[in-house]
Amino acid sequence: MAQDSEIAAKQQPPVNGSTKPAPGKAGLEDVVAGTSQICYLDGKRGILAYRGYNINDLVKGEFEETAYLLFYGKLPNATELAEFKKKLVAARKLPQQIKDRIQQLPKNVHPMAVLRTIVSELGLYDPTAEDMNVTANTEKGIRMLVQIPLVVAYYDAARNGRTVLESKDELGHAANFLYLLLGKQQDERVVKMFDAALTLHADHELNASTFAGRVIAATLSDMYSAVVGAIGALKGPLHGGANEQVMRMLLKINDPNNAKSWITDALARKEKIMGFGHRVYRTEDPRATHLRKFSEEMGQRTGQPQWYQISRTVEDFIKQEKGLYANVDFYSASTYHLMGIPLDLYTPIFAMSRVSGWVAHILEQYSNNRLIRPTAEYIGQIDQEYTPLEKRK
Ligand SMILES: CC(C)(COP(=O)(O)OP(=O)(O)OC[C@H]1O[C@@H](n2cnc3c(N)ncnc32)[C@H](O)[C@@H]1OP(=O)(O)O)[C@@H](O)C(=O)NCCC(=O)NCCS
Repeated sequence: MAQDSEIAAKQQPPVNGSTKPAPGKAGLEDVVAGTSQICYLDGKRGILAYRGYNINDLVKGEFEETAYLLFYGKLPNATELAEFKKKLVAARKLPQQIKDRIQQLPKNVHPMAVLRTIVSELGLYDPTAEDMNVTANTEKGIRMLVQIPLVVAYYDAARNGRTVLESKDELGHAANFLYLLLGKQQDERVVKMFDAALTLHADHELNASTFAGRVIAATLSDMYSAVVGAIGALKGPLHGGANEQVMRMLLKINDPNNAKSWITDALARKEKIMGFGHRVYRTEDPRATHLRKFSEEMGQRTGQPQWYQISRTVEDFIKQEKGLYANVDFYSASTYHLMGIPLDLYTPIFAMSRVSGWVAHILEQYSNNRLIRPTAEYIGQIDQEYTPLEKRK
C-alpha cells in the first residue's frame, strides 16, 4: 500500500492556484480524440461529407441511401438500396410490451426522455442485445433506425389519446414517419424536404452525442447502452435540444418587427441565442444553407412567411452584433413547425436521423477498440488534514 507521503509526493500543486482549465482545453476544444473514416468536417471552409461524399450531393438522394452509406461504408447500387429498404419496411414493428409501456407512460413528459427510456427497454426484448458480433450489431442498428421514429409516433398518439395508424409498406422512411405522426400522407415535396433534413442531420463527426456513444461503446458495453447514452447527450439545449428552443424563441418574438429589440434584450441579459454558434464551424454551417431554403419554401407553401422573415432578421442581426452564424438547428425549427410537427418532437426527429451516425461510429469503435479514458488536470486541494467525524465542525 502506498504511504501518505508517497501519495503527497505524486500530487502537484494547483496550476497558478486557478480553477479555470488551461485555455483551449475547456470542453476538449480542438482536441483530436481519435481517427475515423465516417465524417469529414471542415469548419473553416464549411464542408461536411459522409465517407467522402459531400452532403450537398447526398441530399439529392434519399435518406435511406445515406443510412446505408453510414452503416456499410459504401453507397448502395439500385438493387442494394431496394433490398435495404425492404429490410427497413420489414423491421417496422415494436414488441407488444413496448407498445403497452408507451401507453402507460406519463402524458406530459419530454419525448426525448421517453425515447431515452424506451430505447433502453427495447434492448430488454431483443434476444441479441448482448451479441457483440458485427452482423448482430449492424442488424440492431437497422432495427433502432426503424424503431425510433415508431416510438416517437406512438408516444405522440398515446399522449393525445389517438391510435397510431398502420405503417404503409409503399412509403419510404421519411414519408411513413410523417404519415404516422400527422395522420395523413404528405405532399411529395414536403416529404422530400423532410427526407433531406434527415440526411443533413445524419452524422457530424465527434459531436457530443456521438462522442458519448463511442465512450460507452469503448467499454465494450452493448449497442443499446451506447445509443441510450447518445440520446441523453443529444437532449441537452446546447446540442440537439436547441432546435426546440429556437422555435420557442421565434414564437415569443412573433413579429419580424420585434426581432431586433428582442435579441438586443436577450444579449444584454447575456443569454445564448439558440441556433447560433458552433464549436467547429467558423463560417456558414453547410446544413443551414439547405434548411434556410426549406424554411422559406415551407413559409410560402403554407402562407406563413413570418417565421422565415423573423429568422432572417434574427440571423442578420446576430451576425452583425456577434459575428455568429446560424447552425443546423436554426432553420430546422421553422421548417418543422410549418410541416405541422409538434415543437417537442424536433429533437427526437434529430435522433431518428442521427442514430444512423451513432450506429456507424459505434460499429467503428467496436472494430478497432481501445478504452477511452482521458485524464484530468487536478486543481483541487492537496495535503488536507483528515479530522475524525466527531471532531468535525
Ligand atoms: C454551440 C455552442 C454550445 C458552442 O459553444 P462553444 O464552442 O463552447 O462556444 P462558447 O460558448 O465558448 O462561445 C464563444 C463566444 O461566443 C458567444 N456565443 C456562442 N454562441 C452564442 C450564442 N448562441 N448566442 C450568444 N453568444 C454566443 C459566447 O458567449 C462566447 O462569448 P465570450 O467569448 O464573449 O464569452 C454555443 O455556440 C451555443 O451555446 N449555441 C447555442 C446552442 C445551440 O444552438 N446549440 C446547437 C449547436 S449545433
